[in-house]
Amino acid sequence: MSTIKFPENFLWGTATSSYQIEGAWNEDGKGLSIWDDFSHTPGKIEDNSTGDTACDHYHRYKEDISLIKNLHCGAYRFSISWPRILPDGNKPVNEKGLDYYDRLVDGLKEAGIEPFVTLYHWDLPLALHQKGGWTNPEIKNAFSNFAEVMVKRLGDRVRNWMTFNEPLVVIFAGYMGGAHAPGIKNLSLAFKTYYNILLSHGQAFKAIKSLYPECSIGLAEGYFPFYGQRPKDEKYLDHFDNFGIKLTMLPLFEGRLPKPVEKRIMKLNNGNPADIETLKGTLDFFGFNNYSRQIVRRKLFSPTGFTWVKPDYPGARFTEMGWEIYPDAIYRGLMNINKFSPGFPVYITENGAAFNDRLEDGRIHDPDRTDFIKSYLAMVHKAIGDGCNVKGYFAWSLMDNFEWQFGYTKRFGLYYVDFPTLKRYAKDSALFYADVCRNNGF
Ligand code: FCB
Repeated sequence: MSTIKFPENFLWGTATSSYQIEGAWNEDGKGLSIWDDFSHTPGKIEDNSTGDTACDHYHRYKEDISLIKNLHCGAYRFSISWPRILPDGNKPVNEKGLDYYDRLVDGLKEAGIEPFVTLYHWDLPLALHQKGGWTNPEIKNAFSNFAEVMVKRLGDRVRNWMTFNEPLVVIFAGYMGGAHAPGIKNLSLAFKTYYNILLSHGQAFKAIKSLYPECSIGLAEGYFPFYGQRPKDEKYLDHFDNFGIKLTMLPLFEGRLPKPVEKRIMKLNNGNPADIETLKGTLDFFGFNNYSRQIVRRKLFSPTGFTWVKPDYPGARFTEMGWEIYPDAIYRGLMNINKFSPGFPVYITENGAAFNDRLEDGRIHDPDRTDFIKSYLAMVHKAIGDGCNVKGYFAWSLMDNFEWQFGYTKRFGLYYVDFPTLKRYAKDSALFYADVCRNNGF
């Protein structure tokens, strides 16, 4: 008997992204992405690895569909490698790339698994980056052309699309911190990227809708909600969010930018407020990726008005990423998102944990991951009880994969991948999650 039951029709799924699992980096006409280039640059990836082979999902997708099926998942979130479809970013189209996603989608449908497709999960065609990438306003035409190509091909079978995965990470890790491709460290370029991603989303939303008005279009954003270090800091959370979730939510829900950054962003982009206004309502669902929280305290005269505090209190627990395990964060995040438009459909598009898994006699005992999933799911359930319209949950990730700048050193999978042989093994948490999906709770 389950003690926690989710609403009827709640969708259970798991998620991946193209560069992290596909491999086949230079096969069948695929062009290079910024991640191919970045991972091949010495010193960028912790274990000096690349996504050249990754999980070899490109060749093993059939086996991987059966893994998803064994989890009893009704949905699977994956992304499209843009340079596999448009090696130069724009035309011409690489038919072999399209055929591949055709086969994947058909295989999923045959297995009764609903595809949720992310168009951009960070693998920008290198050719576009060489023309300025996200800092070039022209990119919105390239992105919406890519969206159209994909939707024309898959729109008869794919109902749920996400334009972007985590624009905030693209901006902050790709263009400000530089830990992600393309490895740029420049706040002005980060703000240009932000503006151009927003407009690209809006343009693609309209392009997709004109092809398939009945499809559902979302955007997945990663958000570690803010917690004040001291009770008096909690009073300023609304202000802190101007540098977090409001960067994404205000344009999409209210057609405006957060006040503290608005002037600078508009100036840098020679922006037109009318363009931002047109973004209002360009979303059918919100994808919320959550793993942890951020603790902050107020700091006057700093550019943001706050500073970060390390969660080094007694008893604090962390995953292999060094991310604090804090299940309430997913609850707080959902409640914050719900404030923008109460009852608006939300999917948890990523949630999960990296631990130091060991393969022993073909088994992986990972009680920490099972506990993590349980405790976060309990909080998702609580948020539903408190009025959030959460329609589904996607566990990150189907299998261990290339974890960006950390290479293969962080294992997030429900399935363990033995990288030398590429053999997949169900972890104990996969067996637990399969029961959750089957029973609609636990
Ligand atoms: C998210 C990314 C995803 C994965 C997880 C751990 O920010 O969207 O690709 O790296 O973190």
